[in-house]
Amino acid sequence: MGATGAVGSTILGVMRERSFAADEVVPFASERSAGRTIDHGDRDLSVVALSEEAIQGFDVALFSAGSAVSADWAPRFADAGAVVVDNSSQWRMHDDVPLVVSEVNPDALDSHRGIVANPNCTTMQTVIALKPILDAAGIERLVMSTYQAVSGTGQRAVDELHRQAEAVIEAHELPPPAVYPHQIAFNVLPQVETFTDGDDYTTEERKCMRETRKILGRDDIAVSATCARVPVYTGHSVSANVQTREPLSPGECRELLSRAPGVVVVDDPGDAIYPTAIDAAGRDDVLVGRIRSDPSHERCLNLWIVGDNLRKGAATNAVQVAELLHVRGLLRAARASY
Ligand SMILES: NC(=O)c1ccc[n+]([C@@H]2O[C@H](COP(=O)([O-])OP(=O)(O)OC[C@H]3O[C@@H](n4cnc5c(N)ncnc54)[C@H](OP(=O)(O)O)[C@@H]3O)[C@@H](O)[C@H]2O)c1
Repeated sequence: MGATGAVGSTILGVMRERSFAADEVVPFASERSAGRTIDHGDRDLSVVALSEEAIQGFDVALFSAGSAVSADWAPRFADAGAVVVDNSSQWRMHDDVPLVVSEVNPDALDSHRGIVANPNCTTMQTVIALKPILDAAGIERLVMSTYQAVSGTGQRAVDELHRQAEAVIEAHELPPPAVYPHQIAFNVLPQVETFTDGDDYTTEERKCMRETRKILGRDDIAVSATCARVPVYTGHSVSANVQTREPLSPGECRELLSRAPGVVVVDDPGDAIYPTAIDAAGRDDVLVGRIRSDPSHERCLNLWIVGDNLRKGAATNAVQVAELLHVRGLLRAARASY
């Protein structure tokens, strides 16, 4: 669901790369795209619009069409017998919905009742790096500052950055910003998503704080997040300040992370070796570098964590969750009424 979008098209690509074992793949999108042809390797797929009739008979539905579509259609797919893996924020904090990162808390899938949520992209890459630290030394507090790519907003934002950058370079008048409240080209915006109901944290910052605790299963971790949008096409970067319960040296942390699933340590700053968004784009691994002690606190480490927001931050994890559901015999499990 959302097959024509930034995440949906990446999901289809990841399914092809991983030879995802499906008898049939049906791309759903809005009425606007119905009938459009999508190249899916050895076959062409025709985009289908949502209807009660069209959603019958599926084992798995991978959703990436935004919260409104998920609110309305994820329960209907689940009622029709599919397990939904949803990329939107609609179901993530629902008590009956596991929020799963395949390397971090795959066992949470056991409790699913028809809908599984994929976390926010920034949270996803951060918890993959935090989990080995949590297991080895405990975590008391996390301060995360993010530098998020425009593809995290979707295809319209990618086009907006492109148009604005072209206008600046060619010294043309800039088109007025349509997706973001300010110019994003050659700028940094300390706002990712929206400020609602007088909250002075954005919805994205609230998601990072809440989802980190839910995925790690630790309500007692104090989390503070500041999320910024940067003029990068793909790849979110996170500066994480992690206060552990037990002492953990940078060397021990590097060693732990070098053995962690889904993580690659890229950390030789003296030779300018550290992760960048461009390095992470197109990869499924989360890259971690700049691992160092915080001089202001004896049990604090600083880390620089970079991931491809469209791949591991969304599409790859969704496909991995679908694979786990199949391998663990969790398709067609118990249903809830949402
Ligand atoms: N981009 C990321 O890095 C990222 C990461 C994690 C999670 N997510 C989440 O994934 C979801 C999709 O994000 P995206 O970046 O892929 O957005 P996008 O590029 O704007 O794509 C949106 C998709 O949803 C479809 N759609 C929109 N309205 C619809 C409707 N009323 N009925 C049916 N289909 C509809 C669109 O179909 P048409 O082409 O027909 O309009 C398109 O396929 C969002 O919930 C987002 O928060 C995104």
